[in-house]
Amino acid sequence: MKKIISASILSADMLNLGEELKRVNDSGADMIHFDVMDGIFVNNISFGFPVLEAVEKNSDMMLDVHLMIQQPDRYIERFAAAGADIITIHYESDGDTLEILKKIKSAGIKSGLSVKPGTSFEEVKKYLKYTDMLLIMTVEPGFGGQKFMVEMLEKIRCAKSYIEENKLDISIQVDGGINSETSALASEAGAEIFVAGNYLFKAENMKSAVESLR
Ligand code: DX5
Ligand code: ZN
Repeated sequence: MKKIISASILSADMLNLGEELKRVNDSGADMIHFDVMDGIFVNNISFGFPVLEAVEKNSDMMLDVHLMIQQPDRYIERFAAAGADIITIHYESDGDTLEILKKIKSAGIKSGLSVKPGTSFEEVKKYLKYTDMLLIMTVEPGFGGQKFMVEMLEKIRCAKSYIEENKLDISIQVDGGINSETSALASEAGAEIFVAGNYLFKAENMKSAVESLR
């Protein structure tokens, strides 16, 4: 099965974002992962619309937007207009999950639903038929450079078998602490889309780092 690699620009050199985008473009990665944090849903603040618009203007790659914000409902249209190709919301954030997933789809783009490490798969399985992607966080959201939580492999396996049993058209994404070893573990468990920040941006050769994830 083809692995999809999404490069998280949270780990990029912000002063040289244009150069960093070229590096991602030439690396063979499939998508750009864009982490939005509001300082409320998570204990960190990252970037928002102006940066997304700039990235969209300077790259042809798919933009995979991960919203770690408390009230995603308020901003779906704006993120879609700013260039998002996929918008992922957190199950633990405010608002009616199903309505927000529908709102994302009605913007003509793909949707994702994410779960923090403490949220069980059981809680979200009823939403799977309404979304394109399930993001299983493999670290506590908020910061790059954390260690992959091996305990999440069981959640991935559980989700994968439910998806297969119910013949759902949905992919599993993993995010947090992904490197060549942890991506292999997550892939074995059933993940197909791999977000990587530090592992790619701190690599001397991003292209070989991408290849090592496949
Ligand atoms: C963390 C973010 C991740 C982060 C991953 O909350 O959602 O996308 O950039 O970074 P690494 O790959 O360094 O763990
Ligand atoms: Zn992310």
